[in-house]
Amino acid sequence: MKRAVVMVKNVMDGCKCGGEGKDKFLEDLCNEYKPIKDNLIQMLNEVQEHYGYVPTHAQKVLSEFLNVPMAEIYGVVTFYSRFTLKPKGKYNIAVCLGTACYVKGSQKIMDRLKEKLKIEPGETTKDGMFSIEETRCVGACGLAPVFTVNGEVYGKATVQKLDQVLDELTNKNV
Ligand code: FES
Repeated sequence: MKRAVVMVKNVMDGCKCGGEGKDKFLEDLCNEYKPIKDNLIQMLNEVQEHYGYVPTHAQKVLSEFLNVPMAEIYGVVTFYSRFTLKPKGKYNIAVCLGTACYVKGSQKIMDRLKEKLKIEPGETTKDGMFSIEETRCVGACGLAPVFTVNGEVYGKATVQKLDQVLDELTNKNV
């Protein structure tokens, strides 16, 4: 009886990509793409854009739909810096640790960020306001060292400049 209920639910949901954890977005996504492994990255891009991260339930759905093991999906998500496993903060601050920025002291910027926000790269503050990440060259080497806030570039960065930006963003939201 229980099995029948589950089957009916899946039919009613009308999705071929697994009964557990899907929602309208994932259902539409599965309808939009062919179930072939080559589509994995593109589908992950859409998932990241929609949720702001790649939740476990979406990984499960893609795993079933594309017939790709969960471990492989996890490997892809953790390999590419554009994918994250946790939601990013309202302000995602990325410090460039590419060569040009690194030699100009971008590690100090990252250290300050970790000290002030008390989180590590890839994490988000408890209030959901800030997340931080390390990034490689963002194509603004002439302005090194560089950090970005939601993609907006802050060049010739210093610890003082970072403090100022953090204060401004915090004050905007009090
Ligand atoms: S190395 Fe940082 S912008 Fe190029």
